[in-house]
Amino acid sequence: MAQLKIFGGQPERNRPLRCGSRLDKYRIVGRLGEGGFATVYSAVDLVEDRRVALKIPDERYSTNSQTLDDLQREVRIMAKLDHPGVLQLKDARFIDDRFVMVFPLGQESLCDRLSRRLSRSTTVDYILQMVDAVAYAHENRVLHRDIKPENFILFPNYEIRLTDFGLARVEQGTHDVSASGTLGYMAPEQAMGHPSYRSDVFSLGLVIYRMLSGEIPDYPFEAPLPGFNRLRRGLSREFVDVIRKSIDPAPKKRFRDAVAMYNAMAKIRYPLSDQTGNRKVAEQQSLRRSSRRAA
Ligand SMILES: Nc1ncnc2c1ncn2[C@@H]1O[C@H](COP(=O)(O)OP(=O)(O)O)[C@@H](O)[C@H]1O
Ligand SMILES: [Mg+2]
Repeated sequence: MAQLKIFGGQPERNRPLRCGSRLDKYRIVGRLGEGGFATVYSAVDLVEDRRVALKIPDERYSTNSQTLDDLQREVRIMAKLDHPGVLQLKDARFIDDRFVMVFPLGQESLCDRLSRRLSRSTTVDYILQMVDAVAYAHENRVLHRDIKPENFILFPNYEIRLTDFGLARVEQGTHDVSASGTLGYMAPEQAMGHPSYRSDVFSLGLVIYRMLSGEIPDYPFEAPLPGFNRLRRGLSREFVDVIRKSIDPAPKKRFRDAVAMYNAMAKIRYPLSDQTGNRKVAEQQSLRRSSRRAA
């Protein structure tokens, strides 16, 4: 495999990018967020006259060969995924010694959104999109390994997209002993160094649990789960059963992967106990699917 080349000499460490500064055709507008390795900026593409998000790894990462391999992996995984529920990588390259990944600009992360009220029907619509996106990654043998609300980005029209494949791996049937990921949503076996499709299912289940109940149960789970009554409110039994199964502490009792989880959810005709809500979800889903087919 070709390796990324580092250009130029020794760049300064972490030169801050200020509002108004230019990187090739991009003008920085503001800072959107910071994860462990990178800063994400909103910017304007001055050629296309469009707003974009630029993810720029801290310089100490883009100048070290180990982490360059990680960046290369993240970029190559994202470049091969093409799905409405996965944030699209539009470009990735060095600009003035900085490694820059370019994405469409979203409104906010799911984590930000969860601080305000969400209706049941919108939540279920988001959940179906999220499970569909992870199912697509699994179909392409990609383990995400860091599924959490910060890594889902909201777009207009009630669309939600999965991003941040910085810890993702292509499943090769062998176990990876590193225990990276975010502890809060991590499956117990992943914390022990054994990530699998089932551990992505677990993290996704916990994110869904949090969306519906406002809480995340602490492992080891003990009945009654905190917030479970709130979680159930307005949902059909079948839908709640799928969520419960996805967060079973025993990996073997969960869905094998997000494809199986999606199939179980998509089979449920009435996810909500309220028929008006069900009609709304069905309408949103079919609108979205038909606009996707047309695209
Ligand atoms: N395309 C985007 N549109 C809007 N906000 C974004 C976008 N991408 C990322 N963000 C914000 O930046 C944060 C960090 O982005 P992420 O890709 O997860 O980087 P990291 O690897 O540093 O966690 C996200 O949690 C989100 O708040
Ligand atoms: Mg992140």
